Amino acid sequence: MWDPTQYTRFRDERKRPFFELLSRVDAESPSHVADLGCGTGDLTRVLSERWPQAQVVGVDSSVEMVEEARRRPASATVRFEVGDLADWRPERPLDVLVSNAALHWLPDHATLMGRLVAKLAPSAVLAFQVPANFEAPSHRLVDEARALPRFASKLAPVRRRPVETLERYEALLSDAGLSVDAWETTYLHLLPGEDAVLQWLLGTTLRPVLAALGDEEGRAFVEELRPRLRQAYPAQARGTAFLFTRRFVVARRGG
Ligand SMILES: C[S@@+](CC[C@H](N)C(=O)[O-])C[C@H]1O[C@@H](n2cnc3c(N)ncnc32)[C@H](O)[C@@H]1O
Repeated sequence: MWDPTQYTRFRDERKRPFFELLSRVDAESPSHVADLGCGTGDLTRVLSERWPQAQVVGVDSSVEMVEEARRRPASATVRFEVGDLADWRPERPLDVLVSNAALHWLPDHATLMGRLVAKLAPSAVLAFQVPANFEAPSHRLVDEARALPRFASKLAPVRRRPVETLERYEALLSDAGLSVDAWETTYLHLLPGEDAVLQWLLGTTLRPVLAALGDEEGRAFVEELRPRLRQAYPAQARGTAFLFTRRFVVARRGG
């Protein structure tokens, strides 16, 4: 379902929130670090540069992403595993657990938070970032196209994203005994190229939709969406303006 080339097309825009998340992680010398939903592993390698003494594991359910991650050079302390975050278990409790732009693919975040906390060592840090732009025109237009009679029944099983509010994440993690730092940022991206917002969505949001529709219907879906997105996000000489909100949570166990 995942296509590493399409995903990395907007690499700089997608990378920045990770660094902003990481800048709030206060961990001196962790031994075991995991990057859940690591994709092509570029950011997993950054974790190993920040903590060169740590064993760092990147986990992703996409074989294509993990193969791409393994192809790229990395230090001997980094390894990549194919695994589903729904049931992945670390070999040892983790000192730092990072997840950038991945947890929104998993359902039921109340249960998920409990499962993530259970993987942590005492004093460990859990840090994640999830998109929160589900009310943006881009997502409303995807929903509008999903509801067209031609696509609706095939797309009914494709879930919408289960991201919680900052207050809810704070409450869930505080109740589990962690101290929480949570915030939200809206980025104004100026995306280069033609049909830039469509290209962005093709790297992420539309992956499960197109996988469910198959080739021919998938192409028809994209052609329904293209003019809607062009109208909502007109291209300008300096790029297509695309507002994108993300939620960030950094929580420390026993803090
Ligand atoms: C938007 S990409 C983010 C990749 C990377 N963290 C980054 O920031 O560049 C989301 C990743 O989550 C992975 N993913 C989605 N659902 C997953 C699951 N249930 N278990 C493991 N990985 C999952 C996808 O395969 C994809 O590589």
